[in-house]
Amino acid sequence: MPAARSASRAPGSARRPYVICHMVPSVDGRIVVDGWPLRPRLVAEYERTAASLGADGWIVGRISMEPYAGNAAVPRRTGRSRIPRTDFVARTDAPSYAVAIDPGGKLRWESDSIDGEHAVAVLTERVPDRTLAFLRAQGVSYLFGGKDRIGVPLVLRKLRTLFGIRRLLLEGGGKINGSFLAAGAIDELSLLVAPVADGGVGTPTLFDAREGPGPALGLTLLSAERRRGGLLWVRYRVGRGRR
Ligand SMILES: NC(=O)c1ccc[n+]([C@@H]2O[C@H](COP(=O)([O-])OP(=O)(O)OC[C@H]3O[C@@H](n4cnc5c(N)ncnc54)[C@H](OP(=O)(O)O)[C@@H]3O)[C@@H](O)[C@H]2O)c1
Repeated sequence: MPAARSASRAPGSARRPYVICHMVPSVDGRIVVDGWPLRPRLVAEYERTAASLGADGWIVGRISMEPYAGNAAVPRRTGRSRIPRTDFVARTDAPSYAVAIDPGGKLRWESDSIDGEHAVAVLTERVPDRTLAFLRAQGVSYLFGGKDRIGVPLVLRKLRTLFGIRRLLLEGGGKINGSFLAAGAIDELSLLVAPVADGGVGTPTLFDAREGPGPALGLTLLSAERRRGGLLWVRYRVGRGRR
């Protein structure tokens, strides 16, 4: 996931980044790859295809970011004054941005970057001051995605205006993908379908939007390509159209 990716101009709105959901699902749409055969090849092919998408940032949910963020200790806070709930932008000159939706500020970032990509936390205003002081000390940028709940359109607008992100990879897991799908915030899907029948009932899937019937958006097939290791790379535009 965190391989360096070049910034590039992208189509899409001037107000928010163009969003490509780039994922490796099994043939039954499940996404927890631990224990799958061919794992190293799968990861390499995932990175190769991701790099070709020309994004200048990627975004994941709090759970998916945990192994990349690390496990730093969050010190006690000594200052008494309240830290204002205003966005904190530590860098705007990074080659790429690694963004996590972390509404409660649970991630324990060890560094301000992941393989050279600047770390950005998306929070709600209910996070404690201690978390904000910790993020500032670590040099991790943060922005507020809502008071009590994250609003996906607001987050995308801020990523565009505060960091200049034009083309964003949405890279899981199922919960964040589901909330972007429900918000109508995905422009394109880039799926590297693994030759695996997973069968794990109750494990995360490509889109976990809500209980019961989901948004069920129509897609338009853009391309399908056989890749190494029996992987199938399929790209779709979200929405139905002539083709
Ligand atoms: N195969 C692949 O391509 C691929 C790619 C990425 C991840 N994965 C796998 O996916 C699994 C994790 O998926 P997951 O669905 O359990 O978790 P996830 O989407 O990574 O993270 C979910 C968490 O992120 C926060 N969050 C994300 N979107 C939010 C929103 N719109 N509003 C509020 N909070 C939001 C919440 O954090 P709080 O709980 O703190 O409120 C939520 O519980 C992992 O096993 C990972 O390895 C697979």
